[in-house]
Amino acid sequence: RTAFVVAIDGPSGSGKSTVSRRVAAALGLAYLDTGAMYRAATWWCLERGVPLTAGPAVAAEVAALPLVMGVDPVSPSVHVGGVDVGEAIRRSEISAAVSAVATNLAVRAELGRLQRAAIAAEADAGSFSGGRGIVAEGRDITTVVAPDADVRLLLTASEDARLARRARDVHGTDDAAAVHATRDEVLRRDADDSTVVEFQVAADGVVTVDSSELDLDQTVRAVLDVIGQVA
Ligand code: C5P
Repeated sequence: RTAFVVAIDGPSGSGKSTVSRRVAAALGLAYLDTGAMYRAATWWCLERGVPLTAGPAVAAEVAALPLVMGVDPVSPSVHVGGVDVGEAIRRSEISAAVSAVATNLAVRAELGRLQRAAIAAEADAGSFSGGRGIVAEGRDITTVVAPDADVRLLLTASEDARLARRARDVHGTDDAAAVHATRDEVLRRDADDSTVVEFQVAADGVVTVDSSELDLDQTVRAVLDVIGQVA
């Protein structure tokens, strides 16, 4: 195997999506946003009118999910049934609902299978990366989806830093009102997600990068440093 696999996990607001994209672009690797896959599955179930608490019905929808992930780190894309859902899946109703889908173990098995296939496809010369490899990012990539990745990283940040980042993403400001408005969503989502995946503590062999005191460029450099020590 020559393709290089980088696995990055972390809680919401840790900056892992932006950092992973920048790292993938810098190294000429593909980029897989697995959170976008859970969001797309949630969007699809809501679109189809399936109650998210109906576990087996949700699992059946996801088993037939017509999902296509674009893995170019400069312009990643998500299509479901031919519809570009890149913006729709970032809306607050999806953020509020996604944990109900992500805590469905049959859904995790199915999306995990798709994620492994997407990672394996990047070992192919005919892939986006021409066989160079991929940066895959989420909550359980270092532990469940790609535990044998060449580099495994946990990107963390203090709660204050994560809430401020999230507030800037969603509201364009990190003043007290914006932080308050994102607080419940972020903390409840992390608490719900934590019931099925561990992404707050690094597993054995996983390197932690704490971005609380780092800006984006510094965080990208810290991650590239870790990768450079392994590659
Ligand atoms: O990373 P992002 O905030 O877009 O992830 C959205 C949701 O997808 C998370 O809150 C979690 O419920 C789910 N997720 C997951 N496992 C992953 C990636 C995301 O359960 N590997």
